[in-house]
Amino acid sequence: MTLIETVDAAHYFEPKSPELSSQSISAMARGMVGSEILRIAGNVRTLQAQGRTVCNFTVGDFAPSQFPIPEALRDAAIESYSAGRTNYPPAEGVMALRKAVLNHYEHRLGLRYPLESIQIISGARPGLYAAYGVLIDPGETVVYPVPSWNNNHYAYLCGSKAIEVPTRPEDGFLPTAELLAPFIQEARLISINSPLNPAGTMISPEELRKISELIVNENTRRKELGLRLLYLVYDQIYWELQLGDIRHVTPVEVMPEMSAYTIFIDGISKSWSATGLRVGWVVAPPHITDRIKAFLNHVGAWAPHPEQEATAHILNSIDVLDNFYAHMHNEVRARLNLIYNAVQEMKAAGLPVDAIAPQGAIYLSTQFDLVGKSLDGMPITSNAQIGDILLEQAGVALVPFQAFGLRQETGWMRLSVGAVSIADVEQCIPRMRAILERVK
Ligand SMILES: Cc1ncc(COP(=O)(O)O)c(C=O)c1O
Repeated sequence: MTLIETVDAAHYFEPKSPELSSQSISAMARGMVGSEILRIAGNVRTLQAQGRTVCNFTVGDFAPSQFPIPEALRDAAIESYSAGRTNYPPAEGVMALRKAVLNHYEHRLGLRYPLESIQIISGARPGLYAAYGVLIDPGETVVYPVPSWNNNHYAYLCGSKAIEVPTRPEDGFLPTAELLAPFIQEARLISINSPLNPAGTMISPEELRKISELIVNENTRRKELGLRLLYLVYDQIYWELQLGDIRHVTPVEVMPEMSAYTIFIDGISKSWSATGLRVGWVVAPPHITDRIKAFLNHVGAWAPHPEQEATAHILNSIDVLDNFYAHMHNEVRARLNLIYNAVQEMKAAGLPVDAIAPQGAIYLSTQFDLVGKSLDGMPITSNAQIGDILLEQAGVALVPFQAFGLRQETGWMRLSVGAVSIADVEQCIPRMRAILERVK
């Protein structure tokens, strides 16, 4: 081997002119905002490094020790690697997976789509970004409810005008037709997610029908005037995590005309606790899917070839899937119900706390109604402060709804149960209660 002299690259960076370095970054990159969740994650790590016990309800992810992927999925991926499927997958996705998604949608959602509607991608995120990217020109309006997950970032990346519509706890923080109606004529895209991150709630068929009617009627008007149409991004990445009595519905089921205007975003990340495998899909009218394919192929946002084959295998194994869901739903439900019931007990005891009964996904909306009150004489003024108090004094890490765009300081927080054990939850409840009992 020839010996070569090592260049220490870091020596040539520009530490002495940070301003010039920062100016040399594009305006787009400079304007990207950081994540509040990452700030909290940093605080959690600091406390853990000091040896403190923290019940970590912050991450929208799964601890594999608590929520492993289906064994059959792992085995099928390994088999596919062994069979040498390590080259590029087809641009639109592996045929077996596209067909499996079609069957899955027909059997479980009652929706029949053509093959050209399906684009396989690396998780849900690229689908969201691409849907914004192929539908919206800079300056056009995107409407989305808050609290919601990451729409602000996609709107920013695509130069959209964002209209954030605040939702209400009494509606489970879900959008309603009444709340969206004032913005319908201006919107080019509406983005809705159900089951909802962060609230763990699910839209009702009645409300979804009213929203769909708004969109269909608006498009009838636009077609008469020759105006660009209005589309709906329907992010249903959590739809197979239905935990209560509410059945997941789609805009196309409640109003078939919506198939012309709906872009489904979906994948295995959440329902199979497989966030690291990166398999997702878009289902949309073929002329939109085709542009999403072109857009994402330049980014290279393919799902890995073996994981695509393995996903097809599981989607086609109905019993395997049903057994996996039965187990996973029980595990998620057990954790959510434990906290929910504890919160209801504390509320009944007169403590300033409340929660919305869990309906879907892995989240619980919990209200720590502490703004305007005080802890040991210290006034409490914001949700972020409540989060910091619970973390530092009770070892309970959760995410204020502010991280999802809600502005009101009303004490609403997201608790995510994907990374905690039942024992973790049991142990943190008395710590949470002790703080609430000190609040005046
Ligand atoms: C509502 C919603 N959509 C999409 C995603 C992203 O999913 P993926 O990991 O498949 O990109 C998340 C992740 O938290 C989410 O909460």
